[in-house]
Amino acid sequence: MHRSVVRGVGGYLPEKCITNEDLAHTVDTTDAWIVERTGMKQRHVLAEHQNTSDMAAEAAKIALHNAGISPSEIDLIVVATVTPDHPFPATAARVQAKLCANKAFAFDVNAVCSGFIYALSVADQYIKTGMAKRALVIGADAMSKIIDWTDRATAVLFGDGAGALVLEGVPATHGDNDRGIQSTHLFSDGNHYDLLYVDTVSASENQAGHVRMQGREIFKFAIKLIGEAVEVVLQNNNITVDDIDWFVPHQANLRIIEGISTHFKIPMEKMVVTVDRHSNTSAATIPLALWEAQLDGRIQKNHRVVLEAMGGGLTWASALIKW
Ligand code: UT7
Repeated sequence: MHRSVVRGVGGYLPEKCITNEDLAHTVDTTDAWIVERTGMKQRHVLAEHQNTSDMAAEAAKIALHNAGISPSEIDLIVVATVTPDHPFPATAARVQAKLCANKAFAFDVNAVCSGFIYALSVADQYIKTGMAKRALVIGADAMSKIIDWTDRATAVLFGDGAGALVLEGVPATHGDNDRGIQSTHLFSDGNHYDLLYVDTVSASENQAGHVRMQGREIFKFAIKLIGEAVEVVLQNNNITVDDIDWFVPHQANLRIIEGISTHFKIPMEKMVVTVDRHSNTSAATIPLALWEAQLDGRIQKNHRVVLEAMGGGLTWASALIKW
């Protein structure tokens, strides 16, 4: 068996940035409401000519550069997204072509805001069994393309972006220094699909639908389900909160992150927070936060990093990585 070790991280945020004040000109909202209820201050939005695969490829290039690995050495590309460039082919295939990663097999995963942890888990299984040696795991979403910009309940919450991890398989030993993905935990409950979904899709008119959300209900589920996912990852690895160096939560709402911090007595200094500047970039929140925290020197080799997420589906997930 092999262990999936993180070799490189990358991220991409589109140049255009929309502040809360900008939104207050187009929908009935205020900067004060958005900051108080979500912690969000701004979000990045891609340009007209850009697509999810453009952001994903840019993030991947940075991750590959940081890993010192060339695209031709990649065996597998998994893209977590709910905003593919086209219904098919997979956005991962578009990324493969953009990178000239000719050896790789490539496919997408759709688990909404939990998508990155799902994709990480999928890639980890291929690496563990030796079916892939090096994998690119990407979370990328162009939420601006599926937002109803007239609906204040959702228009203020989302942003665009992409983040990528390069994983490499190393033979698993069983010592304390065994770096890499320690465990991943995935959960779904399709009974609550209507709390967060995209309404009608008209493929013939090449039109996506719009995000519809029962925010308050999702909020309650988020606190409960993320709590359960964190509990599972701690128990499974026989560790406590004190053993964790960094918590990298999905960034849907600062109040959810603070709720988890309070519940588990995790100091907020250990929480990697980007929601104020990125808003909710769906599958991209976690790899973007990992990228930022590695870049500024917070996450270092051998640190224990817990990831957690919850989103449409419902889906929820957690993971522990020894960096
Ligand atoms: O990433 C996937 C998972 N997603 C989430 O986890 C999101 C979870 N939900 C949330 O983060 C929060 O529920 C929201 C931020 C979406 C909403 O915050 P809330 O505190 O739950 O507000 P609410 O939906 O209960 O709405 C409170 C009031 C309502 O007015 P009334 O009925 O009290 O008069 C809304 O109409 O705020 C109003 N409202 C707004 N006001 C100004 C809703 N959106 C806005 C807005 N600006 N943008």
